[in-house]
Amino acid sequence: MRVVHPERAVTPLTSHLVTLGEYVDGYAVEDEVTSAARARGTELGCVPIGVTGGAALRFLAASLQARAVVEIGTGAGVSGLWLLGGMARDGVLTSIDVEPEHQRVARRAFSDARISPGRTRLIMGQALDVLPRLTDGGYDLVFVDAAKQEYPRYLEHGVRMLRPGGVIAFDNVFWKGKVADPADRDAETLAIRETNKAVRENDQLVSIMLPVGDGLLVAAKR
Ligand SMILES: C[S@@+](CC[C@H](N)C(=O)[O-])C[C@H]1O[C@@H](n2cnc3c(N)ncnc32)[C@H](O)[C@@H]1O
Repeated sequence: MRVVHPERAVTPLTSHLVTLGEYVDGYAVEDEVTSAARARGTELGCVPIGVTGGAALRFLAASLQARAVVEIGTGAGVSGLWLLGGMARDGVLTSIDVEPEHQRVARRAFSDARISPGRTRLIMGQALDVLPRLTDGGYDLVFVDAAKQEYPRYLEHGVRMLRPGGVIAFDNVFWKGKVADPADRDAETLAIRETNKAVRENDQLVSIMLPVGDGLLVAAKR
C-alpha cells in the first residue's frame, strides 16, 4: 500500500510517495543525543532498538508512569534514553549488560542527555547472575534485549519482578523473520519461538505482538 506523507501532500506526487512502512518509521522523531548514541551503538555492534521501537518503549513507560524499570541489555544506551524519556521524573532505570565498554558508552549518552546520575543504575554482569538479586514485584516495566537464547529465563524473572499491572517487553521477537519459518531451528530462533509461545500461554500475562521493527512482544501482568 502506498500513501502520501501528509506534510508533503501539496508537492508533486511522483517524487513524494512513500510506503506505509516508511511513513510509520518517519512518524517518531529521535533527538540528536539519542541519534548520536545510536551511531556509537551501531559502530560497537550492539544493535540499538529502532526509532519506532524506542517510541513504543517511551509510550509504555509514560502510560505506566514508570518509576522503576529494568532493562536487560544496556547496549550504547539508546533504548535506555527512550525509556527514561517516558518514565516519571524521579524514576530509576536499572540496566544490565555484560560488556563494560557498552555501559561506558551508555553512561556517556545519559550524561549527554543531562540525565541525573541518580536516575540510572548500571549493573555490569551476566543477566542471569544479576536478575535473581532484583526484587519480586518491585518493577513497573521490564525491557528484554540481551542474549536471545536466554529469553525464556528472562521471562521467568520478568514475571517475578513485575508488579501487578506492570509490563514486560521483548525486542527482536521476529528474529529477522526466522521465527515464522519452522525449518529454521538454530538455538536463538528456538528460544525466541519458545518465549513467544510461553508469553501467550501464561495465564498471568495479557500479551500482544507488535509488528514494530524486528518485532516487539509486550505483555501486562494481571
Ligand atoms: C542488542 S544490544 C542492546 C541494545 C540496547 N537495548 C539498545 O536498544 O540500545 C544487546 C546487549 O546485550 C548485552 N548482552 C548480551 N548477552 C548478555 C548477557 N548474557 N548478560 C548481560 N548482557 C548481555 C550485549 O553486551 C549488548 O550490549
